Amino acid sequence: MQKIYLLTPGPTPIPPNILLKMAEPIIHHRSPQYEEVFQEVRENLLYLFQTKNEVLVLASSGTGAMEGSVASIFSRGDRVLVVNGGKFGQRWEQICSTYGLEVISLDVTWGEAVDPSLIEKHLKNDGSIRGVFTQATETSTGVVHPIKEIAEIVKNYEQTLMVVDAITGIGVFDVPMDQWNLDVVVTGSQKALMLPPGLAMASVSDKAWQFAKNSDLPKYYFNFSKELASAKKNQNSYTPAVSLIIGLREALRMIKEEGLNNLFARHERLASAARAGVLALGLPLFAKSPSNALTAVKLPQEIDGKKLVKLLRDKYGITIAGGQDHLKGKIIRIAHLGYITDFDLIIALSGLGMALGDMGYSVNLGEGVKAATEVLNGQ
Ligand SMILES: Cc1ncc(COP(=O)(O)O)c(C=O)c1O
Repeated sequence: MQKIYLLTPGPTPIPPNILLKMAEPIIHHRSPQYEEVFQEVRENLLYLFQTKNEVLVLASSGTGAMEGSVASIFSRGDRVLVVNGGKFGQRWEQICSTYGLEVISLDVTWGEAVDPSLIEKHLKNDGSIRGVFTQATETSTGVVHPIKEIAEIVKNYEQTLMVVDAITGIGVFDVPMDQWNLDVVVTGSQKALMLPPGLAMASVSDKAWQFAKNSDLPKYYFNFSKELASAKKNQNSYTPAVSLIIGLREALRMIKEEGLNNLFARHERLASAARAGVLALGLPLFAKSPSNALTAVKLPQEIDGKKLVKLLRDKYGITIAGGQDHLKGKIIRIAHLGYITDFDLIIALSGLGMALGDMGYSVNLGEGVKAATEVLNGQ
């Protein structure tokens, strides 16, 4: 028998009350019952995104909201600056290029955060840049980018939008959309929202809606203007993922009850414990400015990260993420967002110590757990 522990940066575990809600008999989406559910979801999404702008909900993974942001708001040949410090920065580039935008790649060493002054330099030198695209957390490296500082620069440029992939950010740490003048913020269901994959969300500022009016890119399903008109009627343009929306209502109720400040503090505390835990095992952090969503850990050269991840999963029932692209086998990523709690983390650190021992790497078993527990206990 094996018990499964999921500590990946998406999907994340789902609280039992949400699972039970999603298991209830499905309702029809063109009905007053659904509209009541969706109205509550819409209201509570404003709270989560800290915005007055509608948060659109789409049936797709998070990438759908990224694609929709490009297709619905930008126009053929627009020049955009993309922060490229990992797998998901690359995704912005690929989507923008696919739609015929002219991409300027701001390459950032994987594991490092972007320097906002470089963005300012680009914007000062090139008045034709229409958008700055970045991640809140670059999940492939565990780095948190300085969104607030970047947005403070971008807001001075009337013809430039600040587009944030906060798929691993919303519900983890503070990303106050309106207060920071963010123009597009997207997220997905399978991260801090504690839901299965399948929902993407995007909110768009007034400034960005002005751009959308002139957008000449092809779009059909991911058409934000169309989706906005539907949302205003508590509806969706196409068949929504009804059960996921019902789960989302429950998740948002939980988040609202906890309160955003408590939610962010909880993630910060767990992240601090995770960092202390891996450091105590003698493993350095990979990210120079680590996110509170996940901890990326550099492995010793003699440890094959792919084998380590497999061993943890198959022998101990603990699923964490490995590295992507050139980081395959070189780093591991332990998530601590959403419905991941103190003891999930303790189990992961304990298992990590044991698995490293199995692989012949000498660790002080229990040191990781001890260090993490001290942080969690506020010592
Ligand atoms: C920062 C970030 N952006 C984009 C994505 C892509 O989202 P999805 O896989 O839901 O399409 C992810 C998923 O892991 C992510 O972490």
